[in-house]
Amino acid sequence: MKSVEKHSQLTRLLLKSFTFLLIFSMSFSLQAQDSVDAERQKEGRKLFKSLCSSCHKLDKKFVGPALGKIEEKRDADWLKAWIKDNAALRASGDADAIAIFDEYKGSPMTAFPQLTDKNIEDILYYTTVGEPKKTTAAGDADATVTVAKEASPWLTRILIAIIVIGILIIASLLKTISELKGAPKTPGLASNVNDLWVGFKRNTFLHVLLTIFLALTTAYVLFGVLFQVGVDEGYQPIQPIAFSHKIHAGDNKIDCQYCHSTAKHSKTSGIPSTNVCMNCHKNISEVAEDTKVTIGEQVLGKAELDKEIQKLYKAAGWDADNLTYTGKTQPVKWVRVHNLPDFAYFNHSQHVTVGGQKCQTCHGPVETMDEVYQFSPLTMGWCIDCHKETKVDLKGNAYYTKIHEELAKKYGVKSVTVAQLGGLECGKCHY
Ligand code: HEC
Ligand code: HEC
Ligand code: HEC
Ligand code: HEC
Ligand code: HEC
Ligand code: HEC
Repeated sequence: MKSVEKHSQLTRLLLKSFTFLLIFSMSFSLQAQDSVDAERQKEGRKLFKSLCSSCHKLDKKFVGPALGKIEEKRDADWLKAWIKDNAALRASGDADAIAIFDEYKGSPMTAFPQLTDKNIEDILYYTTVGEPKKTTAAGDADATVTVAKEASPWLTRILIAIIVIGILIIASLLKTISELKGAPKTPGLASNVNDLWVGFKRNTFLHVLLTIFLALTTAYVLFGVLFQVGVDEGYQPIQPIAFSHKIHAGDNKIDCQYCHSTAKHSKTSGIPSTNVCMNCHKNISEVAEDTKVTIGEQVLGKAELDKEIQKLYKAAGWDADNLTYTGKTQPVKWVRVHNLPDFAYFNHSQHVTVGGQKCQTCHGPVETMDEVYQFSPLTMGWCIDCHKETKVDLKGNAYYTKIHEELAKKYGVKSVTVAQLGGLECGKCHY
């Protein structure tokens, strides 16, 4: 009789551990959901910044109405129809569409037939949840930690393995205990624990399982830390001069490498000196009447922007009245946006010139940004994913032709990825 009672106590104990594992895995899937949401927010923000921010703000009227929480005011189908082609919606006689158009007389909104429903949902999600948390210009106080999506599949696999092995351990314990059931017993929790311990000591299979369990848990925690620490995606500090890439690289189509001229043949891309700016700005001391730059929540118009050009003149020591240099220069203290830790090696010319990668692949649509922000996570997982996916163009390079033939033979493939060329070796990126 007693033995049966005791057995059920043990079962309860084991059920509890099982529940714990279940909750553990559920909390993980919540985390995964968080990272999906973060991804939507990021996508939405990107599209909003490049397509909508020239006319809309989230929190106040601009050229068009404020779009923050617009989902509460209009239903989803209406929004999709409006954003894709507002003129067509008005032509269909939709009263709301006609009313809002009348309210903003004289400034029709662009049509965006190229956007998919998913694109629009992402934009609307961003208008509802707002900005991702940002780091301050000082950079460290409340550093953002974004879950790197690259890491998730691996973490999930390891976690599933941990759970499976946990279940095996429990099953195995149950079996040993039921084998022990016949033995003489004393009641109480202490003896239950004692039983578990005896069972554990007898079962070598359990020892092996437990070792794997601990190793995997360690790997899980370690990988989690490795992939997530110090990710500053979206980092966007305030710059000393409100220099806009949208105006320079976008509207005026100045080539990236005109200013970042060292990207082609050296490790760094560098920030241009004021001399480069002055090649044009000796003659351009004012912006056009309707030029606008959005910095954070602020919109700078002609009056403010002309003052920003004056800041450049002060830094370059340019006397705009007499059209001469005074010789009194002071460096512009641009705040760095991208910054890998010192122990990681990254070389621009290797990627831009040798690898043929476009700036935008890593830095995003810079030509649409009034304010540059960190577009990619810059994590190890990010570097490695691209090295695994990207095929190396080995044409027209005698040195590569030979390596290519050998590697292609070795891997039995037609073309070689960066990874197969050695782009996953620790020493290539870490000194
Ligand atoms: C060229 C300026 C311009 C751009 C770019 C622009 N809009 Fe608009 N938008 C307007 C104006 C102006 C209105 C007010 C209605 C009108 O005059 O047609 C408006 C109205 C809206 C409305 C209706 C708001 C309400 O209160 O009902 C939504 C939603 C909207 N825009 C979303 C977007 C989205 C999303 C994008 C980017 C994909 C975008 N707009 C890009 C100018 C613009
Ligand atoms: C007229 C000169 C000029 C042109 C053209 C230009 N840039 Fe810049 N770029 C700058 C200046 C000045 C800064 C530093 C201020 C800032 O971050 O906005 C900068 C900063 C950057 C940064 C951030 C650097 C950091 O601190 O980590 C990136 C990335 C960048 N540029 C990429 C590009 C790309 C890509 C293009 C072409 C689409 C481009 N730039 C075109 C002048 C220019
Ligand atoms: C393969 C990805 C990749 C490509 C392609 C790329 N960059 Fe970068 N860029 C980076 C990374 C990573 C950093 C951070 C480097 C560091 O902190 O050492 C960076 C930093 C910068 C900086 C800051 C200053 C510096 O050199 O550290 C500028 C400016 C810049 N990139 C401009 C450009 C321009 C312009 C192009 C195109 C000609 C370009 N990048 C192409 C990944 C890339
Ligand atoms: C190839 C020519 C060219 C170069 C090089 C150039 N600019 Fe400009 N810049 C322009 C033009 C053109 C305008 C005016 C745009 C307008 O009127 O809408 C302008 C506008 C500006 C403005 C006001 C708009 C804004 O972006 O905030 C500032 C500030 C400015 N430039 C700073 C700089 C700095 C700093 C550099 C060097 C890093 C630089 N420019 C290099 C052509 C250039
Ligand atoms: C957009 C894709 C992309 C990203 C992102 C990227 N790389 Fe690369 N990387 C390449 C390509 C393509 C090459 C091959 C260039 C060549 O042909 O040698 C390369 C080559 C390299 C090499 C030389 C490898 C060798 O075998 O000689 C190093 C080192 C390197 N990358 C470091 C990095 C680091 C560090 C990062 C992250 C900060 C990074 N890469 C991110 C595409 C990328
Ligand atoms: C393609 C380039 C690349 C390769 C190959 C690479 N790493 Fe990294 N690694 C990086 C970058 C970039 C960072 C910095 C990431 C960050 O700041 O989030 C990093 C960070 C790290 C860190 C520190 C983690 C942290 O969050 O501070 C460790 C440890 C590390 N790598 C170990 C390795 C080992 C071991 C290998 C070989 C199996 C390796 N790396 C191969 C690019 C690489």
